[in-house]
Amino acid sequence: MLPYGRQSIDERDVEGVLGVLTGDWLTTGPAVGAFEAELAAWTGGVPCVSVTSGTAALHTAYAAAGIGPGDEVVTSPITFVATAATAAMLGARVVFADVERDTANLDPAAVEAVTGPRTRAVAAVDYAGHPAEYDALREIAARAGAVVVGDAAHSVGSRYRGRPVGALADLTTFSFFPTKTITTAEGGAVATADEELLRRARRFRNHGLVKDPAEQREPDEGGWHQEVHAFGLNYRLPDVLCALGISQVRRLGEFKARRARLVARYNEALSGLAGLRLPARRPHVDPAWHLYAVGVLDGRRREVYERMRQAGIGVQVNYLPAYRHPVFADMGYRRGMCPVAEEFYARQLSLPLFPDLTDSDQDRVIEALHAILG
Ligand SMILES: Cc1ncc(COP(=O)(O)O)c(C=O)c1O
Repeated sequence: MLPYGRQSIDERDVEGVLGVLTGDWLTTGPAVGAFEAELAAWTGGVPCVSVTSGTAALHTAYAAAGIGPGDEVVTSPITFVATAATAAMLGARVVFADVERDTANLDPAAVEAVTGPRTRAVAAVDYAGHPAEYDALREIAARAGAVVVGDAAHSVGSRYRGRPVGALADLTTFSFFPTKTITTAEGGAVATADEELLRRARRFRNHGLVKDPAEQREPDEGGWHQEVHAFGLNYRLPDVLCALGISQVRRLGEFKARRARLVARYNEALSGLAGLRLPARRPHVDPAWHLYAVGVLDGRRREVYERMRQAGIGVQVNYLPAYRHPVFADMGYRRGMCPVAEEFYARQLSLPLFPDLTDSDQDRVIEALHAILG
């Protein structure tokens, strides 16, 4: 089965990992800082904190922002459940705002309508790699006294109005799962330009440990002494995986270019196909595309999904509106609450898109779609 996404690993990646694997530090060594520094070259210099997954990154970002019981986090339903689940697990109430028809990103007007005195964070999702409308979202969040969290699991390497993802939100989270644009097998990162948020994020990923005597309550205890002032977890990304991250970040430019080329080929080959809506791109964004997300019209999405799979093409659906997971339904969230998101979901289909997808495999995808819809 041709997958919808997969990693690209070459000898540079293998050499990088082997070098660390046979060295002194498997974890918590120099590759961690080196990876974070390489990644920061893509966030406009905004410092990055590596963690063990995109989910851990969201959990760390919300925790650093002080999200807890009594707070509301406004987010998009068109996302992987982790964007909402991590806020809910900190005790916050998740408020879903509807998305925009073209990009399936958070609609600033819908966000504005649901923000209130309890809103502590607005969590945007850069669906498919296309950045959300950060300028408008930041304004709304600032008026509410909330932070903007950018779930950039899809959009490492993308740009918005000339600025890189990572420098657009108060806290940005990345995922390095193998289907994503760069991979560390499992992995993620939080980027923030705010020194206090950065300090809190670094502490949270390491049990909350305070090691600097200048910040300890009992600094004279002895050289071994470390303290916990606020609970954290072990979300440390090991050096072995950071080594993979370093070589992957160095390849990000080539990945972005190959993905753009594949997107252009899809756009050209599928533009005449009635019954299919192609992905939108706003003029002020330069996306590093993660998904090629089409809309199948006329109620034929399920049929096309099944026939493509029968043809050995692993199309995917991204995503069931998050509030339709039974865990949210059981809390009283109702179907239909975000009608644009529901309509988007009913049509959505992701076609294979990854850097090692060959032109001839892509042609097979295109031919199969033409055979079904043409
Ligand atoms: C939008 C979004 N947010 C969060 C995540 C969670 O990332 P991870 O799988 O690395 O935990 C993913 C990945 O599946 C995602 O697509």
